[in-house]
Amino acid sequence: MASPVRIAPSILSADFARLGTEVEAIEAAGADLIHVDVMDGHFVPNLTIGPMVVKAIKPHAKKPLDVHLMISPVDPYIEAFAEAGADGLTVHPEAGPHVHRTLQLIRSLGKRPGVVLNPGTPADAIDYVIDLVDLVLVMSVNPGFGGQSFITSQLRKVEEIANKIARSGRAIDLEIDGGINPQTAKQAINAGANVLVAGTAAFSGGPSKYAANIAALRG
Ligand code: DX5
Ligand code: ZN
Repeated sequence: MASPVRIAPSILSADFARLGTEVEAIEAAGADLIHVDVMDGHFVPNLTIGPMVVKAIKPHAKKPLDVHLMISPVDPYIEAFAEAGADGLTVHPEAGPHVHRTLQLIRSLGKRPGVVLNPGTPADAIDYVIDLVDLVLVMSVNPGFGGQSFITSQLRKVEEIANKIARSGRAIDLEIDGGINPQTAKQAINAGANVLVAGTAAFSGGPSKYAANIAALRG
């Protein structure tokens, strides 16, 4: 994982009444990707946004939209999110019976396929899909809400996955999501992560703080 660390602020912690402006502000502050958390109140205990909102923010974003789908079933919505302007689509193996097929579908639509592992899901869950993905996301909180505490045991999973990625010989991003702050960011980077999702830590304090927030996460 020699590639430079990239920061993916999660708009879950942005001001939802001003999403377009928030995306522009966080990009101006140095965001590398815009992380979009899609929740259905069923796969995870919270409801957030759908393809219409992704479509609405797309013109405000110059950076790629990194769309994290926490919905089940997931397959019926892949095309809608792709058309709405997602650049990457990341799915949980538990969100559908055929994660391999889902990842193939994402690739066939010209988008970057990603697989995401919940804190209780073992690293080996990626073994037979690693050839299909451009990104592996390790959840360092149970998905559903921003502002939760980092689950330290997930660092070992990041290390395991970094080794699997190295063995694969492919350029696969290793992203971590949940409870990232300047301290946990450092631990995650040391474990092998190269993309850090940050909601609370990126958006806290309002727009005048965004640049400093992001700089602090880069270490
Ligand atoms: C949780 C989401 C995260 C969340 C991170 O389900 O996937 O992206 O927004 O928020 P923080 O950085 O506040 O833990
Ligand atoms: Zn997320």
